[in-house]
Amino acid sequence: MRLGPVFSGLLFASAVAAVATQPVTFSKDVLPILQKSCQGCHRPGEAAPFSLLTYQESRPWAKAMKEAVLLRKMPPWFADPHIGKFSNDRSLSEKDISTLVAWSDQGAPQGDPKDAPAPLQFLEGWRIPKPDVVIEMPNAFHVPASGVLDLQHIVVPSGFTEDRWVQCAEVRPDNPALVHHIVVFTREPGSAWLKDAKIGVPFDPAKKHKRKKDDGVPGEGVAGYAPGALPMQLQPGRAILIKAGSDIVFQMHYTTNGKAGTDRSRLGLVFAPGPPKQRVASLAAYNDDLKIPAGDSNYRVDSVFDLGAEVQLTGMQPHMHYRGKDFEFRAIYPNGQTETLLRVLNYSFSWQLSYDLAKPILLPKGTRIQCIAHFDNSANNPNNPDPAKDVTWGDQSFDEMMIGFFSVAFDANVPSQSLTAVPAKEANKPRPKSPKELEALRAVQDAQTPDQQLQAIENVLTNFADTEFKVMLLQTAMQIEQRKDDFAQVLFYGERLLNADPKGAFALVTMASETARHTRQFDLDREQKLAQVDQYAKAGLEAAKVMPKPSGVADEQWEAAKKDFESQAYEAMGQAEVLRQKYDEAIADYKQSISVTATPNAVLWTRLGQAYENSGRLDDASDAFDKALATPNISPAVKSVAQAKKDEIAKRKGAGSK
Ligand code: HEC
Repeated sequence: MRLGPVFSGLLFASAVAAVATQPVTFSKDVLPILQKSCQGCHRPGEAAPFSLLTYQESRPWAKAMKEAVLLRKMPPWFADPHIGKFSNDRSLSEKDISTLVAWSDQGAPQGDPKDAPAPLQFLEGWRIPKPDVVIEMPNAFHVPASGVLDLQHIVVPSGFTEDRWVQCAEVRPDNPALVHHIVVFTREPGSAWLKDAKIGVPFDPAKKHKRKKDDGVPGEGVAGYAPGALPMQLQPGRAILIKAGSDIVFQMHYTTNGKAGTDRSRLGLVFAPGPPKQRVASLAAYNDDLKIPAGDSNYRVDSVFDLGAEVQLTGMQPHMHYRGKDFEFRAIYPNGQTETLLRVLNYSFSWQLSYDLAKPILLPKGTRIQCIAHFDNSANNPNNPDPAKDVTWGDQSFDEMMIGFFSVAFDANVPSQSLTAVPAKEANKPRPKSPKELEALRAVQDAQTPDQQLQAIENVLTNFADTEFKVMLLQTAMQIEQRKDDFAQVLFYGERLLNADPKGAFALVTMASETARHTRQFDLDREQKLAQVDQYAKAGLEAAKVMPKPSGVADEQWEAAKKDFESQAYEAMGQAEVLRQKYDEAIADYKQSISVTATPNAVLWTRLGQAYENSGRLDDASDAFDKALATPNISPAVKSVAQAKKDEIAKRKGAGSK
């Protein structure tokens, strides 16, 4: 029994020896692998720098090939093999890898040329059927011998006078040696995207100004070119739509290689025989708010896209620039279940690979596509153009991007806008991560009493520590305790809330006003408490200015909510000044509070009146109480205070209220 491990070790060694000692020749064993997996790129006129068509051409590369396949650098394919099945998976099997390794180790013999398979016939020109329409860049683009070129956008009218359904599309570089990659987009009539570009003239939007909201977003991707990428050929019954009057935009990434030259790339389109059953479109989950700190070697950026209609997912393509490190696509289904769809482990900007699913995945309406990317902005990243720089979104390759492109097929009668019913930017609302969490959250909603609700909240927070609802739950708990007027518990939840979200305006402002409300003139720790009020209120003012709008809230509503936070912060500062008996400062704060608030507030006017009264300005006080009494919806309690104060002042002034 004790011999077990030794015995299996021996078996393993002899298995390896068996592969290594079996004679491997180019003609019989290696060429079939090169034909299947390498020659698509490694032949004259294609992207790879040397040809692997013949023995003479391949022989000098034997050692480099061994290394490249062992390190999984070649053929380029970066998907985690444990996740998903892809129709265009070009990774080598373990068997193919050991064959190439053994061939190199055995001195790269040719073997008998008679064993060789017939050479492959490569199509010259289009790989799609003969195009119905070819759209060409109107002018040749001059690429200099050296230097870095920004992305070029070349707008060309399609000339389509009616909507066209396209089944196959291919973009071909005219000069592959200078073309790094191409993406061809459509631009629908009326789109603001690249609105300053002149027809046919290369345009670099990044040069002009920083990206603005009204710049519009790129239209749909039609075709892409990158070394080894396949053209788009959809199955019958599926097509992409190019609307009448649309423009075609060539987005060109040129690289210099020491020799100047020109390029005039072309797009070929094959129309579908008739209107399709399913429309295919490419969507994007992107995050253009990214800011990657200088030197950070593993900076995470997320993006989401909430689907407004049912679709079939057909493929995915991560897009980042030189600092991109890894990229993951997930589906979070409406029932809370999460599925990882694609994980790219060693992202490389050189390879704009798309990963086409072997079988489409059905995504019900309301599914969230979540993308998680990491960036390496440290000096350890050999491709990093500048590790000393914080990096933000931009078109140039030394800026960054974070886009999860994904292709979907859907009922051709569904308008494409309904897919994006939830705009990507506003889709940052939280989601349950599992059916169990969803159940626990339902219990919070269904609770009958405040105490039951608090208990349900604690249950979620304890059992689902990474819940995306943490902030929302703690806010609710804080509001419940506020209503119960349990100051200690308000502070307890407020501090947890600030831990979870240190810049949360709600927590800061509520802490300020609750602390002010619970401080008395003769408290021993009065000064500390008042200092805290000021601190919370000031932080709350700052936070209110910059807080991101939650999903599903109208712009005006959001502006009003921000104003209310600001108003509440000034009010708390005013209360603190009153407790310090600094009435002039209090009056200034209350006036600020009144001037920013969007909702008339009788309490505020009453506080202002009292501050005036305390500083002896009786006329102003009387006016303020009048304003309070004139406020619609004044509560009976406030009304009686304001009325009593007003009467008292009238008496003090000796002017008869008769
Ligand atoms: C999709 C196109 C493509 C395919 C498929 C491909 N290559 Fe390459 N290969 C390239 C390009 C382009 C380069 C140039 C270096 C680079 O861009 O990474 C390259 C470089 C190489 C190198 C040089 C490596 C180095 O470190 O400089 C070797 C060796 C190589 N390929 C072997 C292979 C083998 C073996 C296969 C098939 C098993 C293969 N390639 C499949 C495009 C491809």
